[in-house]
Amino acid sequence: MQPFPAVDPIPLPAPIWLIKLLHIVTLALHFVAVEMLLGGLLIAIVLSIFRNSPHASATARALARRLTVVMTYVINLGVPPLLFAQVLYGRALYTSSVLIGVYWISIVFVLCATYWLLYRFTARLEAGKSAWWVGLAAWLLAGYIARMLSTNMTLMLRPEVWRDMYSASALGAYLPTGDPTLTPRWLMMMTGGLFIGGLWLVYLAARSTFTPDEKHFVAGVGGKIAAIFGALYLIAGLWAVRVQPDAVKSGLDSHPLYHWFAFAGYGWLALVMVAILAAAFAGFGHVAANWLAWTGALLALLIELTLVIYRDAVRDLSLLAKGFDVWNRTVVTNWSVVGLFLILFVAGLGVIGWLISVVARAEKPMEGAA
Ligand code: HEM
Repeated sequence: MQPFPAVDPIPLPAPIWLIKLLHIVTLALHFVAVEMLLGGLLIAIVLSIFRNSPHASATARALARRLTVVMTYVINLGVPPLLFAQVLYGRALYTSSVLIGVYWISIVFVLCATYWLLYRFTARLEAGKSAWWVGLAAWLLAGYIARMLSTNMTLMLRPEVWRDMYSASALGAYLPTGDPTLTPRWLMMMTGGLFIGGLWLVYLAARSTFTPDEKHFVAGVGGKIAAIFGALYLIAGLWAVRVQPDAVKSGLDSHPLYHWFAFAGYGWLALVMVAILAAAFAGFGHVAANWLAWTGALLALLIELTLVIYRDAVRDLSLLAKGFDVWNRTVVTNWSVVGLFLILFVAGLGVIGWLISVVARAEKPMEGAA
């Protein structure tokens, strides 16, 4: 019996490739912001414990001041991929969301609490008060959200367990068990946080708002963290690949479309290794330089992009093996709406670029100033 609900009779209003492209781009940006939040927050928490070290305190404050802004990007860059994923995979994603409904809905409230705690963390740091426990509470809640997202995005690929889960309880209060891909996938995002968070510090080290001594410290700490957790991120990623079902592995080898996506996996591997080397150079040499800052930022973006492309193939191949072909939909493109959407999309990007340029030109206080 077909486990997926019947397809919506309303055709898709835009080509599937376009929806996929927008999904991949926006999700990669969401992942960059998520990793900055998860890693940047944990680094700030640890540094904030060393209240007697002016450099550690200045770096913790510099991160914390930016984290509330990063959170706006986490949320706003999470909404578009959620919408695109629902359009493409609604029959699977809605089902898994209902099955873990209580946890899924809880994300909204936990997110509000995380955001509030982030503001409290920053305010306490600015006031010179002990703040690590407030930051840790925010980090644990963010880690819970990450775990629930990983849970749902893997449960949507397992229609074979849906019926039993629903028969056991229709409350939506039980979490699935027995998926070997869930933990490596979640760990990959968590270690990736410290990897990207470290690269973020390498980027910040080149800012003129740090004194030369502080730059030295920030590059050293950030580079070392990125190099160490980059290696762990790599291991978690390879683990996540190894536990994929055979249908996915063979599809990545031989499917006419998805074997191209597999190259993104090799790209990811190469980019992570280059980033680890660059981070080690910054960290052990205490190098704070503009070229290194921008190299790290570009690598972080490309790493998330290649990850999302590969992950997209894993999802499509997992679903295909169970009878769900994402490309098998009726499409009646409404070009005027698509055109309007693209114009507004580009205009939106332009406005964000302008906002960033205003922030870049603004006079900034030195980070060490309390
Ligand atoms: C603290 C806040 C958040 C954290 C830590 C977080 C973390 C994550 C993580 C770890 C994943 C990857 C899951 C996996 O595939 O294993 C993910 C995916 C995703 N997140 Fe977030 N997220 C946050 C907030 C949000 C918000 C507010 C939204 C939307 C309104 C959102 C939308 C999504 C979507 C749609 C995906 C998966 C998309 C797909 O697979 O197509 N996230 N997030």
